[in-house]
Amino acid sequence: MNDKELVAIRAARHVQDGMTVGLGTGSTANFFIQELARRHKEEGLRVTAAASSVVSTIKAQALGLPLVALEHLGRLDLYVDGADEVTPQMALLKGRGYDLVREKLLARGSDRFIVLVDKSKLVSHIGEKFPIPVEVMPFAWQLVKNRLQALGGQAELRQNAAKDGLAITSYGSLVLDLTFDAPVDSAALNQQLNDIPGIAEHGIFQDIASAVFIADNGNVEEIWKK
Ligand code: A5P
Repeated sequence: MNDKELVAIRAARHVQDGMTVGLGTGSTANFFIQELARRHKEEGLRVTAAASSVVSTIKAQALGLPLVALEHLGRLDLYVDGADEVTPQMALLKGRGYDLVREKLLARGSDRFIVLVDKSKLVSHIGEKFPIPVEVMPFAWQLVKNRLQALGGQAELRQNAAKDGLAITSYGSLVLDLTFDAPVDSAALNQQLNDIPGIAEHGIFQDIASAVFIADNGNVEEIWKK
């Protein structure tokens, strides 16, 4: 069993009968979806799932998990997802898979949000390893780009995988990848990005995580927010 699977199985133990559970997106979240589906099928665990992306919806459907659409949900018991970066203060960077809007909605709408990572995701500050994704309404990108540059950053429109066009999110937005020359204060930047019109969502998840489960060579460390 690899580390991603191990940490996902640990998180699935936190699902109790009758819960409404948000499903994240990515390779680690996939292992969680698999384990949840196994518990549903083999242990008879009753669960209602809501997915953060089209790919996770398809995976959950294929594995027989009962799904509910986001628009029918007032709240969730638990959201489980991976992350691209995690700081010691539990600030997260997410969004490599361009499904920020649904991911943050589910994370904020859940009583608890468990983040699943391996040690490679631990950083001292947000933006250390990856650009900060900023999802923008297509007509707003120039104005938003100027505002991001005024904050001292560089922002480039993300290209698609073939590099022959722009990356488009599941909801038709563009993505500006934001970088800074010096380390940034994620709490301050989170607030500044929240205040810029035209930004649909961005990849800083500040003060949302309830716990981070860190896998390291066959061991899992659970860090719960105090
Ligand atoms: C997906 O949109 C992202 O927020 C994260 O990048 C993802 O959850 C992490 O994926 P891995 O578990 O595959 O690293």
